[in-house]
Amino acid sequence: MGVLDASNASVGFTAHKASVEILPGKSADLLAYHAERDGKSYVNSTIRVQKGKQLSAEFTNDLDEETTVHWHGLHVDWRMDGHPFRPVAPGATYRYAFPVQDRSGTYWYHPHPHGRTAIQTYSGLAGLFLVEDEDERDLTEALDLRLGETDIPLLIQDKVLDESGNVVYVPGVMRKVILINLTPNPYLEVGTRIYRFRVLNGSNSRTYRLAFTKAGEDEFLPYQIIGTDGGLLEKPQEASEVFLSPAERMDVVLDLSSFEVGEEIVLSSLPFDPMHQEHETRMEGHMDHMEHMEMGHHHHMDHHDHMDHHVNPTQLSDGSAFYLLKLVVTEKMDYSRSVPETLSTMPQLDLSGAASRPITVSMTTDDRGMQWLINGKTHEMDEFPIVVQRGAKEIWEIHNDEKSMPHPMHIHGFQFRVIERAGTPEHLAHLVVDEKGRLVTDLGFKDTVLVWPGETIKWFIDFSHDFEGEQLYMFHCHILEHETAMMLNLKVVDSQR
Ligand code: C2O
Ligand code: CU
Ligand code: CU
Repeated sequence: MGVLDASNASVGFTAHKASVEILPGKSADLLAYHAERDGKSYVNSTIRVQKGKQLSAEFTNDLDEETTVHWHGLHVDWRMDGHPFRPVAPGATYRYAFPVQDRSGTYWYHPHPHGRTAIQTYSGLAGLFLVEDEDERDLTEALDLRLGETDIPLLIQDKVLDESGNVVYVPGVMRKVILINLTPNPYLEVGTRIYRFRVLNGSNSRTYRLAFTKAGEDEFLPYQIIGTDGGLLEKPQEASEVFLSPAERMDVVLDLSSFEVGEEIVLSSLPFDPMHQEHETRMEGHMDHMEHMEMGHHHHMDHHDHMDHHVNPTQLSDGSAFYLLKLVVTEKMDYSRSVPETLSTMPQLDLSGAASRPITVSMTTDDRGMQWLINGKTHEMDEFPIVVQRGAKEIWEIHNDEKSMPHPMHIHGFQFRVIERAGTPEHLAHLVVDEKGRLVTDLGFKDTVLVWPGETIKWFIDFSHDFEGEQLYMFHCHILEHETAMMLNLKVVDSQR
């Protein structure tokens, strides 16, 4: 991994086939982003840029198929955003150059070629993109954080590995092996101080319910959420469990200063009802749970095989429980700092004059089988069902059908603010933190939000930008196996006078 500073110099990087050791002594054929600097080579490096600086990246496609680099979450001119309309052919080079305008935070980059996003991302192409500004510098100083040592990027992905340790892609399967930064069963030696984790769910389709516990104990350790997709919150928020769906990030602080040497802390994903209600049929007023044959779901049993990785060779069903990361306390430290009360300032929400845009997410079954739809449509490359004016302020009301599953809905180019969450399922009720029905992770800027079946989420979004001409973006589900169809093109046009 490693950190590549891109504030003052252009970076050159390629996408290529790489062989990476995931299981010890075995090599896996992956796709990876590769960079060289000062004789050091970087795989899927964390790119770090100061806000206001120019990112300049010379990208070469060394794959044998088209690809693009999409800067997920960043406010970028569409021509620089890895849009499928701008494919980079095998052997070709594309210069991605844009001023970094975003708030300090944890963003990421991954491929976005037409129809191939899922497989290319799954095959290994993904990395973090960190933006830094004044607020970030203050926080880093207040907590004495060092990136890679006490400020730790955690890229969580699930994969299927075959016997030889190779990664295989099986669409529609909940993958068995959970990797953090491409490492199985990761652990970290820690001291008794504050640690920051920048968690990115880089999985194709799996949602995690993240909690810390002391090893061997059931009680959740409180932690503080300091940031979401679009950077630092105004104030730290205490939490003990959070759902993180594909493409979402959360910036978390965990205080280990009261622990003793030898103690262990575990980050795990707790069991939950994955709400696969898409196959449910209503019978005499009852919900009838049908067997989820194609996915091999037996989620009601998973609560019994708690923390067990060894039930089925390729699958670990959606909503089951498992360990993600172990922290081993090895050093007693003299550390007495605490998270600042104010982390950043967020602009006051001004909803006046914002027009509402209803969006419905649903499923249909036709002769092609099951189809996920947004506003009754599937993706067509040359159609633009969503047209907004430059500078428009809108409230999107995204309703997910009852007969559905949770969908992480994502928009390119702009960050939004969740202003209301309604119809939230029972098992999330204890996570609601305000009278607007919002969850802790709804309190910051977001580019991806998980919409559970039956829920309606309202988000406020401002389509102001200073890029040249019409802007072509996309709005889609970030379950990458859904993305190909469950996506609408979005055009930001200049207002007619
Ligand atoms: Cu993470 Cu359309 O993107
Ligand atoms: Cu994106
Ligand atoms: Cu979806």
